Amino acid sequence: MATIVGGVASSHVPAIGAAIARGLQQTPQWKPFFDAYGPAQDWLEAAKPDVAVVFYNDHGLNFFLDAMPTFAVGAASEYRNADEGWGLPVTAPFAGDPDLSWRLIEDLVEEEFDITSCQKMLVDHAFTVPMKLLWPDGPPVRVVPIHINTVQHPLPSPERCFRLGQAVGRALERYGDEDRRVVVIGTGGLSHQLDGSRAGFINRPFDKLCLEQIVDEPLSLTHYSVRELVALAGGQGVELLMWLAMRGAVGNRACRVHSHYQVPISNTAAGLLVIEPDCHGEAFALAQGGRGLFDRL
Ligand code: DHB
Ligand code: FE
Repeated sequence: MATIVGGVASSHVPAIGAAIARGLQQTPQWKPFFDAYGPAQDWLEAAKPDVAVVFYNDHGLNFFLDAMPTFAVGAASEYRNADEGWGLPVTAPFAGDPDLSWRLIEDLVEEEFDITSCQKMLVDHAFTVPMKLLWPDGPPVRVVPIHINTVQHPLPSPERCFRLGQAVGRALERYGDEDRRVVVIGTGGLSHQLDGSRAGFINRPFDKLCLEQIVDEPLSLTHYSVRELVALAGGQGVELLMWLAMRGAVGNRACRVHSHYQVPISNTAAGLLVIEPDCHGEAFALAQGGRGLFDRL
């Protein structure tokens, strides 16, 4: 059986990748943002996952408007990145875990999620930027990328994405061939809108509500329609869908290990959240040298 060690959600703004590439992490402008990832990195170091299952949204690198799957699961032995035009360096390939991928795909189809299985899949900034933030020296994990469409409407509902995450969580629990320690990651958000008459839109009260409720009462966030989510969080704030999928996978009960909220990073309200399923906070306490368990919002 695979063990879900916890979940992480993080924004994936390309400007973060550009700041890393230019070595700006310690500049006054960027330091508070990058410092907030220290506890998440420490927690990962202590939790020692072997695999990261990453819910992210491709923005046109691998899938485009001509053929856009609602959900797509990577089943490759490696995942390459490519130039998207943001000026970010192309990253080294990420090692896949095809055996686990196929088990997830089989179980998801069994549970009536009509996903696209991808034996070749380029991963874009929504994947590479959070990986670099969480593991600056390169990820010591194999990866299973899961794409959720947030680009071409109609989009899957928040409830559907939460249920997808729950199904992934169940599949991981059933996975029995080999032990795996799995961290589930969701990328994107929080509120932002990049284009149109509301370009620059940010909704701090809604973001704070999401950061609170997603830990203890995630179901209250699954009741929104996509249209309501766009109104509340902005056209690209719908990336909350990936946070909900991550939260669904972590299980019924979760506790906050660490969170951070900063406005703006580029055009986005940047959010970071680390949760554990068992609420003991052992890994985090260890990472903090035995100091306090949970960092409150
Ligand atoms: C920005 C945010 C995103 O989520 C994204 O995919 C691209 C750009 C931004 O704030 O600039
Ligand atoms: Fe995005």
